[in-house]
Amino acid sequence: MLRRALLAAAASGQIREFVTTTPATRAVVDRYVAGESIGDAVRVARSLREGGLLVSLDYLGEDTTDSLQASAVATQYLQLLGKLAAEGLTEDGAVEVSVKPTAVGLLLGSGDAGVVTELGERTAAEHIERIAIAARDAGTTVTLDAEDHRTTVAVLRIAATLRSGFPWLGSVVQAGLRRTEADVRELAAPDVRVRLCKGAYAEPVSEAFTARHDVDKSFARCLRILLAGPGYPMIATHDPRLIAITRSLGLGRPPESFEYQMLYGVRPEEQRRLAGTGARVRVYLPYGDDWYGYLVRRLAERPANLAFFLRSLSSSS
Ligand code: FDA
Repeated sequence: MLRRALLAAAASGQIREFVTTTPATRAVVDRYVAGESIGDAVRVARSLREGGLLVSLDYLGEDTTDSLQASAVATQYLQLLGKLAAEGLTEDGAVEVSVKPTAVGLLLGSGDAGVVTELGERTAAEHIERIAIAARDAGTTVTLDAEDHRTTVAVLRIAATLRSGFPWLGSVVQAGLRRTEADVRELAAPDVRVRLCKGAYAEPVSEAFTARHDVDKSFARCLRILLAGPGYPMIATHDPRLIAITRSLGLGRPPESFEYQMLYGVRPEEQRRLAGTGARVRVYLPYGDDWYGYLVRRLAERPANLAFFLRSLSSSS
């Protein structure tokens, strides 16, 4: 309930203005975000690599409704990939990129209903292809983040189409959505890269499970399908029980045939512990100045984070 209320309240322009202009917010942002520039992204990615972790870099931004902005986001990814390759960080996909389809134009022409139009899908697909070509040239991979359920069909379709030219283009599925178990059965195919997460968006009950334990049960079912299949599962969670299930189901597979994924700033000791056992562990590392939506989802995930944030605000005022 709190999570849904927070995600809904965060859409208010006044709250956004307050949070983004309050200096105390910075400390909380810094916990989850590498910094604003490509230089910051490369510096933090290098230090994570030195600690034995893999990285997926995300250039922050979403819900772009301007075609020039969509193009600028794609160009930013090309520059980032060029820099990562020049620094030797992309070898064998050690540092890859994650892309939010709405940041590269998926919602162009959508209006308030947020329904994906033909123009939006075509624009996003073109930009994602540009990014995929740059990633291939750099020797690394791309994963398409999952956003709210209104984008799911279009994004899975873009990934399925582009995968014929870029077989390593990864998809993300959200265990919270009722449709996901069926999607996972289709995606558990040879070499297909699939990230499984719980889902960070407020969704209607017609589309999504609302009780936490139903989301967790769906996650466990999807996990079993992916880890029994011939693809490359990427298990994105900080949940100790789901990590333990992954570990035990993963014992039947070579350690290089799947990976754990966690967010930068969340359970960093657990990231290092798992990597120390010989598992592949990838850290999702956002950078850029458009961090508002990302920060709100992180605060909504955990009441303790929100309490910490509110304490920071009150102690600074
Ligand atoms: P859960 O929220 O139950 O948390 C389990 C435990 O983890 C908590 O008890 C706490 O200890 C710790 N924890 C979790 N979140 C925390 C936080 N923010 N701060 C501090 N501690 C925290 N979602 C989506 O909709 N589309 C996407 O593309 C992605 N991509 C993605 C990539 C990666 C690598 C990860 C790890 C996650 C995503 N997500 C996502 C987000 C995901 O859907 C989910 O919202 C969060 O991972 C939180 O869910 P957990 O599985 O960690 O469980």
